[in-house]
Amino acid sequence: MDLKGATLTWLGHATFLIENAGKHILIDPFITQNPKTPEKWKSNLPKIDLLLCTHGHGDHMADAIGIATKDQPVAIAMPEFCGWLGKKGVKNCAGMNKGGTQRPEGLGVAVTMVDARHSSGVQDGENMIYAGEPCGYVLTFDSGLKIYHAGDTCVFGDMAIIRELYSPDIALLPIGDHYTMGPNEAAYAAKLLQPKWLVPMHFGTFPVLTGTPAALKPLLPSGVELVEFQPGETK
Ligand code: NI
Ligand code: MN
Repeated sequence: MDLKGATLTWLGHATFLIENAGKHILIDPFITQNPKTPEKWKSNLPKIDLLLCTHGHGDHMADAIGIATKDQPVAIAMPEFCGWLGKKGVKNCAGMNKGGTQRPEGLGVAVTMVDARHSSGVQDGENMIYAGEPCGYVLTFDSGLKIYHAGDTCVFGDMAIIRELYSPDIALLPIGDHYTMGPNEAAYAAKLLQPKWLVPMHFGTFPVLTGTPAALKPLLPSGVELVEFQPGETK
């Protein structure tokens, strides 16, 4: 997998850390209560410069407030979700919506918000707060590297548009089944997206997430290489 000078770390579940040109990007922060995140990452996370959330479910944002208030990164999420984060003390939340691209200053990356088919609400005490729609992100680095994080989603036909418009090199796709695509659907997503490298995520964290990379591998179309990470591993 050629990351063009960047590094990619899987912290387990849907949580990824990208280091590029000395800056740190964290997607879907679920760390302190994540059963798959190694201890060394729980206590030694670098200072985050850009924080992205795909939707309001706890397994994608449980550490957003803590990290955002400590490191003061640029945060990006749906406007409704940013509004909730703002009430919880998160500054610098740059709300956006699907189809748009923004380029946070000095980070060397453009962030495009794309569709995802799922649900999104934030559990706030006893209340479930509407957090806007769920989304995915395409990150286009100045190096030319393009990474697509699908968030939580089923497979959908407009993944073909994501391929045609952005041609991501790397696709981070959920394969765990039950709440998202399983291996069969993820293989179809790979056919639509045609990334060079497919990194499976959102599996094995909890017993209900039964999809496995081994089940996905024989279903993949030619030209798409499966790249497996162990939680905590950097490539
Ligand atoms: Ni979810
Ligand atoms: Mn999830």
